Amino acid sequence: MSEQLRLDKYLADMGIGTRSEIKTWIRKGRVRLNGEICTKPESKVTTSTDEVLFDEAKVGYVDYCYIMLHKPVGVVSATQDNVSETVLDLITDKQRKDLFPVGRLDKDTEGLLLITNDGDLAHRLLSPKKHVDKVYYAKVMGRVSREDIRAFEEGVDIGEESLTLPAKLKILSSDEISEIELTIQEGKFHQVKRMFEAVEKEVIYLKRLSMGSLVLDPKLTPGEYRDLTSQELQLLKN
Ligand code: URA
Repeated sequence: MSEQLRLDKYLADMGIGTRSEIKTWIRKGRVRLNGEICTKPESKVTTSTDEVLFDEAKVGYVDYCYIMLHKPVGVVSATQDNVSETVLDLITDKQRKDLFPVGRLDKDTEGLLLITNDGDLAHRLLSPKKHVDKVYYAKVMGRVSREDIRAFEEGVDIGEESLTLPAKLKILSSDEISEIELTIQEGKFHQVKRMFEAVEKEVIYLKRLSMGSLVLDPKLTPGEYRDLTSQELQLLKN
């Protein structure tokens, strides 16, 4: 997508510095626009065709970023936090400074988290009306049973106005500690943990495996991330 931006905004969007730092640097002649030194911060740049150099290094313009992160336990799903490390702190080579996580995973939950600056896509994925499937793997204290499958199918009371939407519970193993996969279409605060509490069980490990068509890449270890492939992005947008 092509757009026209002020030169100082172009460089600020790409994380080169603050707007006022950049204005100073442009005035000092550190920036070239299409080969010529440009000292006017207000100069217009066409993102798709103009070439911008900062200290002689090319600065390409990236509109939208889509990153698949394997969120590790211990970091918070926020853009900023005064105490804990955030999922954005893990993205060390940010190409945009307006990135945010799409939805939240608890601090002690790991797994798939999409990081982007595409608000429309985030809205579509999170909207309760869109019924996007989210699949979780969990270890649960106690024997998960067929009654639990039925209860989750019918909806359980987690203290909200209405019961949870029908959810698909698959028992992988049932013992003192059970292993399950749960598919839900909502994203209420602590939803999976609260659903198991409703059937008197405790989630002791939780990992998100997928969100809509997007599946956590098994090659990513906790803390690792990569850009979405164009195929993943296309599927997600459809
Ligand atoms: N449900 C939870 O309880 N926690 C999460 O992090 C995600 C879903």
